[in-house]
Amino acid sequence: MKNDCYDPAAQPGACYETLADPFRRRMLSAAVLTATGGALAAAGIPLPTLAAGAGRAAGAVLDFSGIPVSTADRVVVPPGYRAALLFGWGDPVSDGPRAHADAADSALDQARQAGMHHDGMHFFPFVSGGRPASDHGLLCINHEYTDDGLLHPDGMRDWSAEKVDKAKAANGVSVIEVRRIDGAWQVVRPSRWARRITADTPCRIGGPAAGHPAMTTVIDRRGEFVLGTLNNCAMGYTPWGTYLTCEENFNGYFRGPAAPSADQKRYGLTEKGFGFRWHEFDERFDATLHPNEPNRFGWVVEIDPWRPEKPPVKRTALGRFKHEGATVTLARDGRAVVYMGDDERFEYIYKFVSRQRYVPGRSDSTALLDDGTLYVARFGEDGRGQWLPLRHGAKYANGSLTMDNGFANQGDVAIRCRQAADIAGATKMDRPEWIAVHPQTGEAYVTLTNNSQRGTPERPGLNAANPRPANIFGHIVRWREDGRDAAATAFAWDIFALAGDPASADEARRGTVKGDAYGSPDGLWFDAGGRLWIQTDVSTSTLNKGEYANLGNNQMLVADPASGTTRRFLAGPNGSEITGITVTPDGRTLFVNVQHPGESPSERSDPERPTAVSSWPANQFPEAVGGRPRSATIAITRDDGREILPT
Ligand code: FEO
Ligand code: CA
Ligand code: CA
Repeated sequence: MKNDCYDPAAQPGACYETLADPFRRRMLSAAVLTATGGALAAAGIPLPTLAAGAGRAAGAVLDFSGIPVSTADRVVVPPGYRAALLFGWGDPVSDGPRAHADAADSALDQARQAGMHHDGMHFFPFVSGGRPASDHGLLCINHEYTDDGLLHPDGMRDWSAEKVDKAKAANGVSVIEVRRIDGAWQVVRPSRWARRITADTPCRIGGPAAGHPAMTTVIDRRGEFVLGTLNNCAMGYTPWGTYLTCEENFNGYFRGPAAPSADQKRYGLTEKGFGFRWHEFDERFDATLHPNEPNRFGWVVEIDPWRPEKPPVKRTALGRFKHEGATVTLARDGRAVVYMGDDERFEYIYKFVSRQRYVPGRSDSTALLDDGTLYVARFGEDGRGQWLPLRHGAKYANGSLTMDNGFANQGDVAIRCRQAADIAGATKMDRPEWIAVHPQTGEAYVTLTNNSQRGTPERPGLNAANPRPANIFGHIVRWREDGRDAAATAFAWDIFALAGDPASADEARRGTVKGDAYGSPDGLWFDAGGRLWIQTDVSTSTLNKGEYANLGNNQMLVADPASGTTRRFLAGPNGSEITGITVTPDGRTLFVNVQHPGESPSERSDPERPTAVSSWPANQFPEAVGGRPRSATIAITRDDGREILPT
């Protein structure tokens, strides 16, 4: 497809794609990282290490004063930095109505306002003077799920079709136009690009599952269109200028049968779901009536922010699972490579490699993301690993991806991706979350947020890549593809850090982090300087309690991959998770999302006491709509206006 980004300054042919392409900066000098072998050995855990090389990447500069742990009900950033509020739940995306403090907004209002629970996000710059602008762009922001105790004035009492419609409108994605004027970021209203994508927005189905019988329903007899996207967790973006939003815990939105089939169980369909109660007023979400509807969720969805009239597309070649993120890089020959985690205990890490090469300005994303090979990772005990192809017909020791195991075609493999990965013999991981690719070395890092069941009775035991029993703090694994080529089918890996509390009475839970401590790493992102930004998602049932008593509110840290040194950059308000991060091309504004401030341990607030846990952001930013805690995007800048950290 032609590059479609819009240049308001009308410069023909100039597009950010060819100017700000982060893929140009990436990868694969002669650099090779050393491992944190010493730290691991200190923990008494004999683990593989990536070999050191003469051309290792230089240590990254962590030029700021780290902040202490925080239990304050506010966003805290280091001295010399400031955080401004940009876009909170209920703020209009364009010319819609401003939120009511008591959440009295209608479903139709909500469909024109920021959804709940901001998550993955990316900044797409406009082009100005032939260069990517750092003061004007589109932000795509995921809205992962709802807290129905806050979403409606009286919570889930008198449950109704209107409340279901509002909850559906609060999931999905916001596309907003943002501009920095006189140093202050603001949402441009109205905007011709502003858009809400919700759980009712028509989405096209692309790839091998399109038209598959298991994708058809009474309202879509051809299996070509789905209403909506939901539980939009982490994200990715492509060199051709599109946004990828990832459907994570889709199973919880459905009412399943009392006795689910083996396939339904594999994806966690249960009779009660997560208690969202959508099926009571939208029978699409009753899988006892519409058993194929859950097959139409659990995908990576591609959105072209520059073309609001285009429907999002579910890219089924990337497999169906509880998608965390979809991190795109390029193989040596230019094929698109997408790294993805399936966030559940004992699930897998995947990689997609396109058949065709990406050609700047010419490639059609349909050709790239609808046609290629999906792989799943096996981490060996010896620091080596393999990418196992999930190709229809493939033969493995445990069986074949053929009709013998119910796979008639690649569409079946995509829809029953977890079952295919089981047969391939992939490694069961401790909840794979975000994956980030180092811009200079090409090494990939993945957060494994935690897994309290690891090694417990009747659950999978330890393996080298998931070495701790009852892993409550999580860890970060990294790998280097053979030949430093993202399309390779084998890799070397090691553990970058075991998270933990250095003061823990249990030696195995102290972790190996050099510097500021954290647990439950989730969001993960590299800046252009090769620094690793880590965002945490400690569950609100655990936050500041028990083993987590010393680690404070959820936080964001910066690590130097070469030395492992880690420093705390930001702490969130009470009950929040920090997730979602993107930067302007000049490196001077960092956008970060604060998700579910005020969340109670049950994840559903008491509507009588909406601010029981947090009053953020109104308690820190007087311009915010009050009444309830609100997920929000913040813009972080330096007081001196320079880069957030020097490149
Ligand atoms: Fe939505 Fe796995 O975090
Ligand atoms: Ca996450
Ligand atoms: Ca999360």
